[in-house]
Amino acid sequence: MIWNAVVVALITLGVGLILSLGLRALPTVRLQLMGLAALAVCLPLTVVLLSGWVMFHMGDDVKILAMLAASATVAMIGGLVLARSIASSIDSVRDAAVALSNGDLTVRAPETGPNEVADMAESFNEMAANIEELFDARRELVAWASHDLRTPLANMQAMLEALEDGLAEPADYLPALGDQVRALTLLVDDLFELARIDAGALTLELHAAPLVDVVSACIRGVSAEAVQRQVSLNSEVDSEAIARFVPEKVERVLLNLLTNALRHTPSDGAVAVRVEPDHDTVRVTVEDTGEGLDDEAERRMFDRFWRSDPARSQRGAGLGLAIARGLVEAQGGRIWAENRPGGGARVCFTLPAA
Ligand SMILES: Nc1ncnc2c1ncn2[C@@H]1O[C@H](COP(=O)(O)OP(=O)(O)O)[C@@H](O)[C@H]1O
Ligand SMILES: [Mg+2]
Repeated sequence: MIWNAVVVALITLGVGLILSLGLRALPTVRLQLMGLAALAVCLPLTVVLLSGWVMFHMGDDVKILAMLAASATVAMIGGLVLARSIASSIDSVRDAAVALSNGDLTVRAPETGPNEVADMAESFNEMAANIEELFDARRELVAWASHDLRTPLANMQAMLEALEDGLAEPADYLPALGDQVRALTLLVDDLFELARIDAGALTLELHAAPLVDVVSACIRGVSAEAVQRQVSLNSEVDSEAIARFVPEKVERVLLNLLTNALRHTPSDGAVAVRVEPDHDTVRVTVEDTGEGLDDEAERRMFDRFWRSDPARSQRGAGLGLAIARGLVEAQGGRIWAENRPGGGARVCFTLPAA
């Protein structure tokens, strides 16, 4: 009877629709498509087997035709549903990408849908977060640089106006004007050095030599400041350690590390320099007994213009360690900072051993 065929076809259609909607719950696009293919093949087979009784009542051709029509409809509808659900999760990633390219750096894609799309959304979100962080850092950099350039200029302008208005004698302000000009010159020199490091324009000819001369020159350079701050200054140089380096550049790095260490060590504290061989490198360590490094300092102290004092009132623009990193890396070494086990900070750099 034709009604039997209609009933079986309707049941096939119903069960098939429910199963194909259920396919969306499978975690990956691959599994979903495989499930759909399996459904399209197995459903009519199952129905044929289960509905053997129908065969006794009607011609096979009508039954098979009905079954085919039902399973084809199921496969098509299932395919459409799946395609829509996959496409909509891809669409949300695309929308996020369009928003990002239009300048909305805070946009993130929903990490839902099949695993492949969710993974793609996760990678996209990581990329967006990195871009946002880079832009923040750049904004900060420009703000800090202009602050540090503007402060001495504003000071000089105030002094010049006071002189013009006859409120002070030139001799009163000459030393201060000289200080401001020197500070500006130092800052501009540092920016120029960083620009050369960035451009890879440093032509470094490495010489093999022991580090003892460089270390003693640096110790001599900061000994007056150490005495004034009542900080003891020690060095321990392994004479076996011969490195390949450019003396002026290493001197510049070491002087900055020593100045930083002295500046962060209270009176009666100690600053020590150690030079020792370390595998195929020579390691230089500068340790102090100061306040040490908090998490942010450890993460950011090598960033340009970064300083732990947010008022930016102390000396120094926060470029010293950025330059030190550039110079050490240009000589084939590595530089890092950590806390000293007994308290205080420790900054180390390596140079290739000769
Ligand atoms: N030995 C140290 N102990 C604690 N903090 C340090 C030490 N050396 C550097 N820092 C932190 O890192 C920042 C950046 O150092 P640096 O790049 O040399 O810039 P600057 O000396 O101009 O401040 C310093 O302002 C300070 O906050
Ligand atoms: Mg410094």
